[in-house]
Amino acid sequence: MAKGEFVALMGPSGSGKSTFLNIVAGLTVPDAGDVIVAGTNVSRLSDSRSTVFRRRNIGFVFQSHNLVESFTAEENVVLGARLDLQKPDTKRAHELMEALGIGDKHERRPDELSGGERQRVAIARALYMQPKLILADEPTGNLDMETSQQICSLLEAVNKRYGCAILLVTHDPIVAKTAGRICFLKDGCLVDTFASPRDPAIITQRYVEKMQER
Ligand SMILES: Nc1ncnc2c1ncn2[C@@H]1O[C@H](COP(=O)(O)OP(=O)(O)OP(=O)(O)O)[C@@H](O)[C@H]1O
Ligand SMILES: [Mg+2]
Repeated sequence: MAKGEFVALMGPSGSGKSTFLNIVAGLTVPDAGDVIVAGTNVSRLSDSRSTVFRRRNIGFVFQSHNLVESFTAEENVVLGARLDLQKPDTKRAHELMEALGIGDKHERRPDELSGGERQRVAIARALYMQPKLILADEPTGNLDMETSQQICSLLEAVNKRYGCAILLVTHDPIVAKTAGRICFLKDGCLVDTFASPRDPAIITQRYVEKMQER
């Protein structure tokens, strides 16, 4: 991935998408090869260095179980700072939450937020540490179509505005089309990569063809 690129990763269940994200994050060590993130070989870092690197350079957004339920939205957003023993920058947290359309939800706990709002909090939290890369594993998987579209537009805006690269895993071609480039994974192998045609029907057709190839 180039600096600031937005890539969507698609593939059947079990093809290795989440595993790949875990490897990029340095959470899983690859059997072979190197993973370079922002100039650092994450697969060669010790556990403690890997944790610090991840916290400072990579933001995460998952399908669910994203947030600490006992914390408020704002406390969730500044979680990275706390873990990094930095004083939380409340102003920055408020600006991000405002930009993501949850400016009035600081004090809400996750169970008092809608699914879309929870994902906005998760995105604000991912952005808070000014990461070079955001890893998103099916971030719209639990959302209805309209909210899913809103989250896609937000990710696109975030990618442009903050310049952080995004690697997004999805099964949904309508979500995938938001990215600049699309990659297909099959049985752990990259089998296709192409500029987004911005048309979910074309993505689906290409996907079906690729997955049927022997
Ligand atoms: N911790 C693990 N140890 C061993 N095998 C694993 C582990 N996690 C996943 N796998 C296996 O690796 C393969 C890829 O799993 P992975 O979770 O990456 O798939 P995926 O593409 O994310 O699928 P889905 O779309 O269902 O989320 C699967 O066969 C899975 O059973
Ligand atoms: Mg997965």
